[in-house]
Amino acid sequence: MRIITSLRQMKEASARLRAAGRTIGLVPTMGCLHPGHLSLARASKKTTDATVVSIFVNPTQFDPREDLSKYPRDFARDARLLRAEGTDILFVPRAADMYPSGYKTFVEVLDLQNKLCGRSRPIHFRGVCTVVLKLFNIVRPDKAFFGQKDAQQAVIIRRMAGDLDLDVEIEVKPIIRDADGLALSSRNAYLNPAERKAALVLTRSLKEAKMMVDQGQRKTAVLIGRIRSRLEDEPLARVDYAAVVDPEELEPLSLVKDRALIALAVFIGRTRLIDNVTVRIKVKVKAKAERKGALSLKG
Ligand code: PAJ
Repeated sequence: MRIITSLRQMKEASARLRAAGRTIGLVPTMGCLHPGHLSLARASKKTTDATVVSIFVNPTQFDPREDLSKYPRDFARDARLLRAEGTDILFVPRAADMYPSGYKTFVEVLDLQNKLCGRSRPIHFRGVCTVVLKLFNIVRPDKAFFGQKDAQQAVIIRRMAGDLDLDVEIEVKPIIRDADGLALSSRNAYLNPAERKAALVLTRSLKEAKMMVDQGQRKTAVLIGRIRSRLEDEPLARVDYAAVVDPEELEPLSLVKDRALIALAVFIGRTRLIDNVTVRIKVKVKAKAERKGALSLKG
């Protein structure tokens, strides 16, 4: 595995790969890697010729209130894990190169950036889009891999890639969870043992909401009510938002019709955790009902 810090060297390495006819997969991360990140590196490895993983704790996506300097970092461990996954290039740009003094250009995906997490993190997605577009321009990947864990981020990046005619395929991969169901996150490292246990309330409430949909509940007010009351039962939890939205426009739904994203952001102590589940109304049931209708018409 080659470790590259210079933007110029990364561009050259990528140009050489392309000239040799090899496809490139990019996995953007902020490090402190866990199996969720590694699943993306593995997906890239499987479907592209060369996998580039970037580690960059991007300052422009942190609010001034959020503590950028406290973000967990462990470069030696990250490098070891990525080497074991067969990553070809670990790209670790420096903040001073990504954002030299006088830097002025930002990318915004209007409207989508202000919903859900954007409400409490107003500059977050602008920072994410800017850094991701810069990484795309430096690495020029054929495919880029993101986790469904950050559902809104995935939706926004897909939209940015479409709107700006980027030549990159955006792949979104499933949420990787701990054995007890908690979605893996670098932020889980902030939780003390009592908080770690309390954090399972996110998983539990999402599971229950999904079960209610599976059992026929369509009213999102009922679903959100149940989620909120589950979350409020946990003294260490404070709800930022609980929402049922359509998975592309992130618009609140009043009824679950086809597909819906149930998304949560919850503070457990001082740590803000997010999780989500996508629910689908089974088309099979509809098809069966239609067949039944057709049969009865015949009969
Ligand atoms: P980071 O939080 O390090 O996450 C990097 C990638 O890993 C994201 O695409 C995220 O959705 C995915 N990921 C995190 N936890 C996951 C889990 N439990 N299962 C599956 N995938 C998971 O997201 C960012 O960094 C940054 O915003 C970034 C895109 C790198 C831009 O700075």
